[in-house]
Amino acid sequence: MLSGRRILLVVAGGIAAYKTLELVRRLRERGASVRAVLTRAGAEFVTPLSLASLTGDKVYRELFDLTDEAEMGHIQLSRDADLVVVAPATADIMAKLATGRADDLASTALLATDKPVLMAPAMNVRMWEHPATQSNLETLKRRATRFVGPNQGDMACGEYGYGRMAEPAEILAAIETQFRAAGRLSGRRALVTSGPTFEALDPVRFLGNRSSGRQGHAVAAALAAAGAETTLVTGPVALPDPAGVTTLHVESAEEMLAACREALPVEIAVCAAAVADWRPAQTAEQKMKKGTDSRAPELSLVPNPDILATLSQQGPQRPRLVIGFAAETENLVEHAGRKLASKGCDWILANDVSPASGTFGGDETTIHLVDAAGVESWPRLRKQAVAERLASRIGETLPAPHMTETLSEGVAE
Ligand code: CTP
Repeated sequence: MLSGRRILLVVAGGIAAYKTLELVRRLRERGASVRAVLTRAGAEFVTPLSLASLTGDKVYRELFDLTDEAEMGHIQLSRDADLVVVAPATADIMAKLATGRADDLASTALLATDKPVLMAPAMNVRMWEHPATQSNLETLKRRATRFVGPNQGDMACGEYGYGRMAEPAEILAAIETQFRAAGRLSGRRALVTSGPTFEALDPVRFLGNRSSGRQGHAVAAALAAAGAETTLVTGPVALPDPAGVTTLHVESAEEMLAACREALPVEIAVCAAAVADWRPAQTAEQKMKKGTDSRAPELSLVPNPDILATLSQQGPQRPRLVIGFAAETENLVEHAGRKLASKGCDWILANDVSPASGTFGGDETTIHLVDAAGVESWPRLRKQAVAERLASRIGETLPAPHMTETLSEGVAE
């Protein structure tokens, strides 16, 4: 399970830091690679040398260490991992992440990462129970940071209560659970549409749109990372094919629909393509010439097939979960609800693209997941984080076939 996994381990200052060395040893034994960031306070409890010998790598310490920055920027450091583990997590580092402070390498890496974060808190019981720490804990949990421990017991400071860092074996188990969730969709087949469609007027001209395909490609990559056998049907984009995904390149809406039909049956379909609503009624076989008179040709358009609606109405071949995106500038939930009903899909991820939202041209977006039961509003997220959250939401709704036996009857299929 851990073989080949890359873990970024942040070691903050606490007497429990010595236990982290044991954690590193066990992770390495299981085939994971560990890269350590040691805070200044952390270095009071474990030496950089002992961490470096156990990780088999250099230990990253200073934000403005030029060698580190030249070799690997702190952003890169935080993104090259599959999981970020903070052990021990002090009250201070929890507060920094909860409030968005980034004044050293550890807090900067935590703020910059787009990977899941697991924290193993360790602190004095009064510090743990303090309303400030508890409020930070709530904030972090709401933002999907995961926690293991703290445990109850005697503390190094002589007090008794909650605050002892979880044992290395417990942290290891939490890390394995995290990766198991990542394989949540194994055994499932998924189909994703992405990018624009180009509708040919003649061999050289077309009607198209500016969709970059970034959201759809990120969804395909996230579903594949969660273990689904994923087919991506994409219009013309300037993006590389995502790793581990079968990518089919098409131009027009009709080609996209045909490729989607070919990919059936699937259990999950996510339509993120910006399909042209219309295409020219006729496509000239030869390049259209200006001719001698200066009159422009009149374009006659016909509607394109709606791929999302078609997939939603496939009868016995209908995917179990059909998901569409909607861009709205006003009455977001109402419009998305109407789209849900008219297309017959299961979820609409409604995107707020009003000028005030700053979504257009930006990297972040605010999603409202609308289904028959109501609305779930997500925090403002980058497109990749939207994709990862969608994949894990699909995993909760449609767990991998081999996982169903471990779930309660109500959720199992
Ligand atoms: N879609 C599709 N095939 C089409 C048109 C849209 O699969 N021919 C899918 C898109 O991939 C997206 C959703 O339907 O998942 C968007 O629906 P659409 O009705 O096009 O909504 P908007 O683009 O938001 O347009 P409008 O609000 O103008 O209807």
